[in-house]
Amino acid sequence: MEYGFGIVGCGMIAKFHANAIRDLGNARLVACYDAVPAAADRFAEQQNCRPYHDLKKMLKDPEVQVVTICTPSGAHMEPAVAAAKAGKHVIVEKPLEITLKRCDKMIQACEKAGVTLSAIFPSRFHESTQMLKAAVDQGRFGRLTLGDAFVKWYRTQEYYDSGAWRGTWELDGGGALMNQAIHSVDLLAWLMGPVAEISAFTGTLAHERIAVEDVAAATVRFENGAIGVMEATTAAYPGYLKRIEIHGSEGSAGFEEEEIKFWDFKNKTEEDDKVLAQMAGKTQTGGGAADPSAIGHHGHTAQFRDVLEAIETGRKPLVDGHEGRRSVEIILAIYKAAETGKSVKLPLKSDPPLKARAKKKEQPTVSTPSVATSAEKESPVAASDNQPVERALTPEGAPAMPETRSVP
Ligand SMILES: NC(=O)c1ccc[n+]([C@@H]2O[C@H](COP(=O)([O-])OP(=O)(O)OC[C@H]3O[C@@H](n4cnc5c(N)ncnc54)[C@H](O)[C@@H]3O)[C@@H](O)[C@H]2O)c1
Repeated sequence: MEYGFGIVGCGMIAKFHANAIRDLGNARLVACYDAVPAAADRFAEQQNCRPYHDLKKMLKDPEVQVVTICTPSGAHMEPAVAAAKAGKHVIVEKPLEITLKRCDKMIQACEKAGVTLSAIFPSRFHESTQMLKAAVDQGRFGRLTLGDAFVKWYRTQEYYDSGAWRGTWELDGGGALMNQAIHSVDLLAWLMGPVAEISAFTGTLAHERIAVEDVAAATVRFENGAIGVMEATTAAYPGYLKRIEIHGSEGSAGFEEEEIKFWDFKNKTEEDDKVLAQMAGKTQTGGGAADPSAIGHHGHTAQFRDVLEAIETGRKPLVDGHEGRRSVEIILAIYKAAETGKSVKLPLKSDPPLKARAKKKEQPTVSTPSVATSAEKESPVAASDNQPVERALTPEGAPAMPETRSVP
């Protein structure tokens, strides 16, 4: 069966969705919608699909069976719930949403409508990650002892100034952790198992005007007794590839993006040398370390394929709504631990009340040329895949920030 896709939110990541859909073979991009009509028109022209200026109308399009949500993080819920109510399957960019309450509303809406919900975590689908997960499941590490995730990235001040929503609690939902390092938070919890307890520090050290953290470090205890650290920053110039390291009584493995750095087991197999050779030099992109658009779309393609197979066979997708919610919960627990100076136990009963949420981003008063050229002011959508994200959403082009919504 061929599946028709509709994309909601036609900014930077939407182009990666369009490319991934094209690569599937059994899918077609049918429609797109953006709160900024010119953005939808431009994207539709580039991607050869139907632009809609009204989400309700796009959701009535009978050729659309799957909707992918590419709006700012705190604006995922409304279109996702509307799509579910219209009987469409829903694939949502990370983070699933920015509070547990909003995640739960999406999960409930999709369950009630009987449609599939998946949260996008492309790194889970990389060959290297799948091998690492298989080694964990086979018990090759012995007793798991340490699990670490390091995301030492770099974002310019212009990146945060480029979109009214970036660096806000209302729509970004947090900083280096909620926006950037969430991929690694998800991976670590998937590989090591559920997190039981967290202690943390966060800070805003190298960017101006943003309301959220640009550096965070947490120590975690997993339910299985293993310990680990999660480090996240957008303030480590020039930005390095993200690393995951897993250690146990009988083995250790470390990855930098998709490339194996060490793969050492007490009980070596013949396969191990092949694995090392096969996975050397695997990373083909900048991994988003310094430029958010320097990523591949192969992870998205693999995840979309998993979702379509799940729809067809009636199984759960690898990353369903509950799996997507998990990293949001861990990050909110880190924020709470950092704010209170006390360790936080998981699972959380509800969204922690964070005083930090009262902090507002100060919008830049003067746009720099790299932030808003005249063409960009016309539309927030990039002209080409190679264009950096800094132009993606000017404060002028941004949809209005919610005036009355309080989060959570
Ligand atoms: N998986 C990844 O590697 C990855 C990478 C980058 C971004 N993302 C995620 O994708 C999402 C979008 O990020 P981006 O960088 O593409 O942002 P962006 O600012 O470039 O694009 C967002 C688009 O959504 C539109 N929009 C805003 N509110 C809307 C609404 N209510 N309805 C419809 N359209 C609306 C804007 O006009 C804009 O065109 C975020 O959740 C982000 O975390 C994921």
